[in-house]
Amino acid sequence: MAAVDVRTGRELPEAVRDFIAGAGVLVIDGEERPRSSDGGVFTTVDPATEEVLAEIPQATAEDVAEAIAAAKAAHDDGRWRLLDPGKRASALLKVSDALKRASKDLAWIDTLDHGKSLRLSTGELIAASNTFRYFAGVVDKPSGVVIPSREGRFIYTDREPVGVCAQIIPWNFPLLMAAWKLAPALAFGNTAVLKPAEQTPLSALWLVRILRDAGVPDGVVNLVQGVGEVTGQAMITHPDVDKIAFTGSTEIGRHIARAAADNLTKVTLELGGKSPNIVFDDVDLDRVARRAAFACFYNAGEVCTAGTRLLVNANVHDELVSKVTAAAESTKVLPGWFEDAGMGPLVSDEQLQRVSGYVDIAKDEGAELITGGGRPDGLDAGYFFEPTIFDGVSPGMRIAQEEVFGPVLAVQTFEDEDEAVALANDVSYGLAAGVWTSDHGRAHRVASKLQAGTVWVNTWGELDEVASFGGFKDSGIGRELGPHAVEAYTQPKTVRMAT
Ligand code: NAI
Ligand code: MG
Repeated sequence: MAAVDVRTGRELPEAVRDFIAGAGVLVIDGEERPRSSDGGVFTTVDPATEEVLAEIPQATAEDVAEAIAAAKAAHDDGRWRLLDPGKRASALLKVSDALKRASKDLAWIDTLDHGKSLRLSTGELIAASNTFRYFAGVVDKPSGVVIPSREGRFIYTDREPVGVCAQIIPWNFPLLMAAWKLAPALAFGNTAVLKPAEQTPLSALWLVRILRDAGVPDGVVNLVQGVGEVTGQAMITHPDVDKIAFTGSTEIGRHIARAAADNLTKVTLELGGKSPNIVFDDVDLDRVARRAAFACFYNAGEVCTAGTRLLVNANVHDELVSKVTAAAESTKVLPGWFEDAGMGPLVSDEQLQRVSGYVDIAKDEGAELITGGGRPDGLDAGYFFEPTIFDGVSPGMRIAQEEVFGPVLAVQTFEDEDEAVALANDVSYGLAAGVWTSDHGRAHRVASKLQAGTVWVNTWGELDEVASFGGFKDSGIGRELGPHAVEAYTQPKTVRMAT
């Protein structure tokens, strides 16, 4: 059953409406608590309408301490890590299946809470489901080695879970980020306290209920909600946290690294980017233009790996820029529940102000505004912003150096390969980069010189659970997913025996 909202025209499934009505809870040791210890709350809004969706209890330091105590007890008594690996794998497979089954309803939650189109939310749910399936497959794979030694000694290594993981995630891919954090932590036997971003608190609760129904014991995954300065801060400073896994801004990443230093807590940080997309002159410009627009405007540009700097060979500059501009101008900016929504609103008024602010800065610095730059016509409510392109951007401009986290593309021009690489690397970030060329030698040469955790050649944006992900330079510390996830969520132990 779906109820049609007369004003917005959206058909909200009843299961979604009911879920949101009851979404104001924390989950601590398996108990859903509708109230925080001091009764404090915050609200989450639908960025397409600016309406309040739900009031959520804000976890205090006391609530966080209880959640961490529950996760610690679950780790210490081994109710999850010592379970038969086959049983742990089968629970994670059930989670994968349940996510797929719920995808129609669950997609609505992130569309309402974040603003992205239903098409994108649905795709992310499938990706989240795949993440749990992949990590179900690695539960029994971590293994140690036997180390040759002298007679009378037997030395081997084993891999153990790290322990209690404080997982703090951003608002740009709410459910997928929760999956990227929880699936590997659980696969390798850890316990967790998860905090979604305060802008998008809703969908994680659905996932936590799925985990419970799949047989993950109480206390293994705890859900706290609240703003970073209160709830997040209590998580990163607690001495019983063994590992902090954070995705978000470089500024808060630095703050977390400092807090982690005090308790010597292990930490992985997935931070910001200003990723270069390098286009040489020997490519199909129509195809590249479509992909370059996608690289920057996908998810309204709220993507850490967004291709926000288009570096183009001078001799194809005019043609490529006019094609990318056409792609930007044909993108339909609409609320996410419209079938033809190419781009939804930004997540919050704060983000809208931030993006508008960067447009003003770019104009002041002398960059040339080619298209966009403001609110689209005909949308009066909501935090909508047009796909925006600046040309004539020079490396010293802030628009070339700083993360905007919105649909704003900066075009820079190069004359040869060396200049392209120098421009690409001339930022403090190093998360992702792209190279478009039909010359294979050049593709390898350039890929090897780019300072980036992920390099795409003749494509952009593919990220999934099978490959490791993380940043060079100010884009982070450590790697998640793929073959390196085991390093993020286990620690080796050496056993030396006298025989
Ligand atoms: P943020 O880094 O403040 O928030 C990310 C997460 O960290 C949220 O869950 C937040 O509650 C938490 N947090 C904030 N302060 C904390 C603290 N003191 N202790 C513990 N946790 C804390 O990012 P914000 O303010 O939402 O966005 C600002 C900018 O950050 C964006 O414009 C963008 O440039 C960047 N950003 C990058 C992301 C990425 O994926 N790399 C994701 C989100 C934001
Ligand atoms: Mg919201």
